[in-house]
Formats: sequence, structure tokens, C-alpha cells
Amino acid sequence: MRPRGRFITLEGGEGAGKSSHAARLAEWLKGQGVAVLVTREPGGSPRAETLRRLLLSGRFAAQGPDAEALAFALARADHLAVTIRPALEAGTWVISDRFMDSTHAYQGAAGADPSLLELLDQIVVGFNRPELTLVLDVPADVGLKRTEKRANGPDRFERDAIELHEARRRAFLDIAAREPERCVVIDATGEKAAVAEAICKAVSERLRPGAMGAA
Ligand code: TMP
Repeated sequence: MRPRGRFITLEGGEGAGKSSHAARLAEWLKGQGVAVLVTREPGGSPRAETLRRLLLSGRFAAQGPDAEALAFALARADHLAVTIRPALEAGTWVISDRFMDSTHAYQGAAGADPSLLELLDQIVVGFNRPELTLVLDVPADVGLKRTEKRANGPDRFERDAIELHEARRRAFLDIAAREPERCVVIDATGEKAAVAEAICKAVSERLRPGAMGAA
């Protein structure tokens, strides 16, 4: 039986480059002989992808940040049950593009009740907290400029005021400062190759994928 897989999350504001770095990290890990699954939130399972469409269209926005946090948590519960836990149990490493910290940063910065967010983590995430969280950090204006190049236009969260984007960035940095044993902040303003190297270095130091042996 293969040992349980390791759980890595990538977090950060808009335009931080999480999706492309998740894919690059997966390729690098595969090169180390590790079986890897890349997934994302909201989404990562059929039901959670349905919730993703509703959440990003702004369908829950009028109900306020507590209701949005509940909807993200519902999607997360399904994602964990259907995709993440089975993969980890099969010995596959999981890289999730966003996870629970996004709820604290986004819904938290929008005024969600902090005790509700803590409770949701306890109920939904429980012992399935990531072992390593890479916080890709870019100034809010730099990140938003990058997203302007995307073809499909801004979603419900990208449209928010710059002050809210800045508050989310501070929230991610606060989480990283509070949990240094789990989180590593990566400066994501530089060249893609340099950022990718910093990410692989952090994973290598924290999780030692080479020591896993061939998958
Ligand atoms: P993305 O996959 O392009 O980053 O889009 C996901 C959006 O959803 C992004 O704006 C962040 C937001 N989000 C939250 O507000 N709360 C959450 O818990 C998660 C996972 C994402």
C-alpha cells in the first residue's frame, strides 16, 4: 500500500498565477516520481463545479458574506468527499488551487462572522487541513492588471473595489504569519520561472517529495 498522499494548497489574490503554478508544480512533482492530482476551489467535483458557476455569477452576493461562506463550505465538503480524500487515501498528492484560506480572506474581508468561518473549518475541513499552503503574494493592482488580459471578463469577485482586494491580500499575509508551520509566502511579482523555482524549493524543503520513492 502506498503511503497517504500529501495535501498542498495554493492561495492568493486575483492574478497571482496560482493556476499555472499549480500545473507547473504538478509536473515537477511527477518528475520526482510522485502521483499528483491538481484540483481547484470552488469546484473540483461535479456538484462543487455547479456551485462554482452560481458563486462566480454573483447569485449568492445579495445574501451577504455569511451566506456566501456557507455556499463555499458546501462546495468544499463535496470536493473533499468526492475528490480530495479519496486521492490522498490512494497515495496521490493533491494540489488545490484555493481552499479554506480563500474563505477567510475573501468572505472574511467582506465582513463574514469570524466565528462562523472557524466553525465551518471545524465541521467541513476537520483533520483534512493542508500540510503546506503556498501564499502567492502580489500587490492587488498588479494582480488585477494581469486578470484584465483574460478573455471572459471579470467575475463577481474580480469586480470588487481595489480596497477590498488589498484587504484580502492582508488577510492572506495575516494567515501566513499566524501559521508559519503550514504557510510559506512566495513573492509572485517576478518572472514566472523564478516564482516556479521558489515554489518547488518550498515544497522540496517542507515535504521532501524525493524521499517518497517512485509512485
Ligand atoms: P478563481 O478560481 O479564478 O480564483 O476564482 C475563484 C473566485 O472565488 C476568486 O475570486 C476567489 C473566490 N473565492 C472566495 O471568495 N471564497 C472561497 O472560499 C474560494 C475558494 C474562492
